Amino acid sequence: MFQLKTKFPENFLWGGATAANQLEGGSNVGGKGLSLADVYTFDESIPKEHWSDQWHLMTHKQIEEAQNPDSDKYYPKRHGVDFYHHYKEDIALFAEMGYKAFRMSISWTRIFPNGDELDPNEEGLAFYDRVFDELNKYGIEPIVTLSHYEMPLHLALKYGGWVNRKVIDFFVRYATTVFERYQNRVKYWMTFNEINCVNHHQYVSLGVIEENHPNIEQAKFQGAHHQFVASALATKVCKEINPEAKVGCMISYQVLVPYSCDPDDVFATVEKERINSLFFSDVQAKGYYPAYTAKMLAEKNVIIRTEPEDEQIMRKYPVDYVSFSYYMSGAVCAHPEKLEGVEGNLLTGGVKNPYLPSSDWGWQVDPKGLRTALNNLYDRYQKPIIVAENGLGAIDVVEEGDLINDDYRISYLRDHIKQIKKAITDGVDVIGYTSWGCIDIVSAGTGQMSKRYGFIYVDQDDMGRGTKRRIRKKSFNWYKNVIATNGEQLE
Ligand code: BG6
Repeated sequence: MFQLKTKFPENFLWGGATAANQLEGGSNVGGKGLSLADVYTFDESIPKEHWSDQWHLMTHKQIEEAQNPDSDKYYPKRHGVDFYHHYKEDIALFAEMGYKAFRMSISWTRIFPNGDELDPNEEGLAFYDRVFDELNKYGIEPIVTLSHYEMPLHLALKYGGWVNRKVIDFFVRYATTVFERYQNRVKYWMTFNEINCVNHHQYVSLGVIEENHPNIEQAKFQGAHHQFVASALATKVCKEINPEAKVGCMISYQVLVPYSCDPDDVFATVEKERINSLFFSDVQAKGYYPAYTAKMLAEKNVIIRTEPEDEQIMRKYPVDYVSFSYYMSGAVCAHPEKLEGVEGNLLTGGVKNPYLPSSDWGWQVDPKGLRTALNNLYDRYQKPIIVAENGLGAIDVVEEGDLINDDYRISYLRDHIKQIKKAITDGVDVIGYTSWGCIDIVSAGTGQMSKRYGFIYVDQDDMGRGTKRRIRKKSFNWYKNVIATNGEQLE
């Protein structure tokens, strides 16, 4: 009855994760339309601290400029690392590492270039046929995100993004198209990447162009509600097409701890963790709004407009599994004024935790926080969990003989994987681990190429210059051995 688990399960989904807009390139081929990500620029002349601003603030002027074919600005997410033309080589490298799973996203604008067409773009669908066939050839399970910060730009411009209820129908049409097409090749789906990001980045997550919205809090939560409904409707359709398929939610989970044992810090942490992340997984995993929603919305002066059928559809179609990205933890202080702040994924920041080191980008490294995250989510939902992203963004140096000695990355990943193993012993049902950016890709936040996460180096700089040659890093062989030993050999 009480069976202690001390090992990773036999069929554990070891692999890596990417997103179409950071990986694929080929934005001007195959009939692809422009996505929100395609208008994101990288410009070294702008001060570093502003590189991530476009995640939440994008103006009509910037978008107009991006639509001008003569613009001399560099748009890194149109180029990615050209997986579009290198997918065979890249998947062969994943297979060489022994990948069991590959998390990727479908670019919505390859399938529906503007988002509101009635018929899909066959060339876009055919591209993913080829990708899934290639994965299948090596027995690699695709885990597919439907929306990873790359909704059609047209839906943002014409409809105002997710704030408009009509976008639900466009999303469901897109989801239905890909569920039908790939029903025999994809079992694991995720609807929205880091759905809690709507709270932090209204542009990339919701397609809201700030200048249009005098009441941004209202826009964020109305948009979130539409995504919840869209996700539940997509889950319904997915199950009708393939009852064996699994649909998951995905949040960015920055585990929070109180800065001190001051009761004010403790409760501030409970509330911040809800609004930052758990509210979103609560709704999607349980299928209904948690009891604390009313107060949370009242404090923000937000009134969500719902339709009578929303509640029922959300209750009937919660997700099958829970997934999350984990890069760092955070500390919460009720009175942070005199404390040092920190950088963080999703610009969430917080106060500096004196017990933790930080990455070169100021993200606080806390492997034990991953064990806490897994326990928290499993205690709360009792659903299988995939660690959908985890990794270290670092500068890599190519030494003589194409050597890249990324011991720092090995150390980061090893320490985190050890904590997953401990969580499994704690009783958590972890079914997969896909580290972030298994191959170097463009950074979501900064647009840099030099912020690298991969086991495979790509010869390309921040402005897209380079041969795009793929080079195995030291971590490549290390991870290969981790997978071969099913997580037993981590040193
Ligand atoms: C996650 C995103 O928040 O963090 C990824 O889902 C992103 O798309 C990753 O790449 C790492 O962030 P960054 O800004 O270092 O690329």
